Amino acid sequence: MAIVTTKEMFKKAYDGGYAIGAFNVNNMEIIQGITEAAIEQHAPLILQVSKGARAYAKHVYLMKLIEAAIQDAEQTAGFDLPIAVHLDHGDSFELCKSCIDGGFSSVMIDGSSKPYEENVALTRKVVEYAHDHGVVVEAELGTLAGVEDEVNVSAEDSSYTRPEDVEEFVTRTGCDSLAIAIGTSHGAYKFKPGTKPQLRFDILDEVARRLPGFPIVLHGSSSVPQQFVEAINAHGGKMPGAIGVPEEMLREAARRAVCKINIDSDLRLAMTATIREYFDEHPADFDPRAYLKPARAAIKAMVKHKIVDVLGCDGKA
Ligand code: G3H
Ligand code: 13P
Ligand code: ZN
Repeated sequence: MAIVTTKEMFKKAYDGGYAIGAFNVNNMEIIQGITEAAIEQHAPLILQVSKGARAYAKHVYLMKLIEAAIQDAEQTAGFDLPIAVHLDHGDSFELCKSCIDGGFSSVMIDGSSKPYEENVALTRKVVEYAHDHGVVVEAELGTLAGVEDEVNVSAEDSSYTRPEDVEEFVTRTGCDSLAIAIGTSHGAYKFKPGTKPQLRFDILDEVARRLPGFPIVLHGSSSVPQQFVEAINAHGGKMPGAIGVPEEMLREAARRAVCKINIDSDLRLAMTATIREYFDEHPADFDPRAYLKPARAAIKAMVKHKIVDVLGCDGKA
């Protein structure tokens, strides 16, 4: 199967009350760990590439690795793995165009930090180009807190999505899905230790009421598994107070209008915890395959757990 768009995936997910995992990819081991989990669980999949990932690995390497994963699924598992390849947090028309021209099936134009009218105009411009090329577009309204390579938004500068804006925004831009801010944030420090994590499900439901059947996207959806944080801290790392979104809340969001759940930090944690542990226990080893192999296996196990217990998309491909 060729690379697909998210159109059909989202329709089925919306109707079925589950979500598709959108996992960030940066290298071969991450791509293999995620795709092997999706193949074994027969789960539809979104692999997403940030501007930083493209700068790190180069567009062509990531694209060829994803194509290899599709070919491997066909040859070794006899399975047509439906994969959407998505630009995460595109910040300009030129970046979106380059990804569309380079074979991505989906792009995000993130104009959420711009004034509303600028967000509308930029999103509309990307949608026109993307739709002319058979590519779908995710847009964003509302601003998440947190740190990514290219953006750093403080908690004070973050803002929830205003449900009263969404119908006009979607109609004027023609976007295919919408990322909203309901209390998640990027990175591994999402809530203050000792406080109760809370998401604004009332905003999600009001957005869904105003946009019936329209796919909603949740960024900042890592749950920061404590076994990884503990392993990192026990083996020379320093991540005190790292806290994520409780998995039950993500499952609840998936039952509602959320069709795409973005996960990056949990992949980083799984990989880092495993490699730190390995180095601590095997100080004389220096073959990268020795520590990347268990790291890849940890990613695979973690993604399998997400597919089955959090997203609910197992067996849906
Ligand atoms: O939301 C952002 C993703 O975690 C990507 O992060 O820009 O550091 O690649 P990055
Ligand atoms: P996390 O930092 O919670 O993994 O969020 C990733 C994300 O939203 C990518 O766009
Ligand atoms: Zn994000």
